[in-house]
Amino acid sequence: MSDKRDDDLDYETTGHEWDGIKEYNKPLPRWWLWTFYATIVWGVLYTIAYPAWPLINGATPGILGFATRSEVAEDIARFEDANAGISAQLASVELTEIANDPELNQYAQNAGAAVFRTWCAQCHGSGAAGVQASGYPNLLDDDWLWGGDIENIHATIAHGIRNENDPDARYSEMPAFGADELLNDYEIHQVVNYVMSLSGEPQDASAVAAGETVYLDNCAACHMDDGSGDPWQGAPNLADAIWLYGGDYDKLMETVTYSRFGVMPSWADRLSEAEIRAVATYVHSLGGGEATPE
Ligand code: HEC
Ligand code: HEC
Repeated sequence: MSDKRDDDLDYETTGHEWDGIKEYNKPLPRWWLWTFYATIVWGVLYTIAYPAWPLINGATPGILGFATRSEVAEDIARFEDANAGISAQLASVELTEIANDPELNQYAQNAGAAVFRTWCAQCHGSGAAGVQASGYPNLLDDDWLWGGDIENIHATIAHGIRNENDPDARYSEMPAFGADELLNDYEIHQVVNYVMSLSGEPQDASAVAAGETVYLDNCAACHMDDGSGDPWQGAPNLADAIWLYGGDYDKLMETVTYSRFGVMPSWADRLSEAEIRAVATYVHSLGGGEATPE
């Protein structure tokens, strides 16, 4: 059984030998082995205590009842508690007072930006610049369909535009002049050229004069004689070269022929009053916000 060298080094062998090669008996160090067993025990206890094993409808819950979902809910509840006071204040003060109270304004700006990123950016763009010629308006400029003071912005957001779910929604009705045969294609061609002339776009000069007559008869009631628009009717300014649906000849022909019927969801049943006020304050501050008329 023993080879001279083994004896010299005083190594124990296991007795296994194959073709003159012997197997030393060198067990793992005690400390290593115990650590190894300890990790197994720890692992088993962990899967008993915490959610672990996947089952068909979910996972074993663990006897400690720990869940990341309830952790998040607790975190949210803690933030809401911490903000309850200021949030209630935001929901109850005069809308026009929010901007005058630095602390309230700061809170509304931060909360409003977060609401905007979550609920508004998909249509109005993450920077609120809208999407060119898509019907989703730019909220950074001072061109407002429905008015740009804080009260109007708040009402637009709370109730939405032309959505059936909210009886207080804003309704705008631009007739589909071509589709409903109120004007023929030639008259539409004329009035479109007149509208283009309002913002100095190149146009067919021979159509403009006749287009003005068509305009005054059919359009001025909503868009005003000078094309400046009417926020009471959601009628946009046509003279400022800012276009919701595009200002080239083809786009304008399409708008006047078919009308557009833009729809904006209402938020009153999805967001709290404080959240709506926060996002209204945020939008109002973006650059185009107007002062409330006295
Ligand atoms: C599903 C797309 C959509 C979402 C989401 C959306 N909007 Fe709008 N929003 C629109 C459209 C379309 C209009 C223009 C409607 C029209 O043509 O009259 C509009 C108009 C507005 C206006 C009026 C602009 C003006 O010129 O008067 C404001 C203010 C506004 N949105 C704010 C918001 C805020 C704040 C949110 C998030 C809480 C939001 N929107 C979410 C589509 C959307
Ligand atoms: C009853 C009111 C009303 C009348 C009348 C009316 N409009 Fe409008 N117009 C609107 C409203 C409201 C919008 C916004 C539509 C939307 O967002 O869905 C609009 C939008 C437009 C736009 C799109 C502007 C942009 O920024 O893209 C053009 C162009 C326009 N109107 C031209 C006309 C012309 C030309 C006439 C007359 C032939 C006319 N409108 C008559 C209410 C009216």
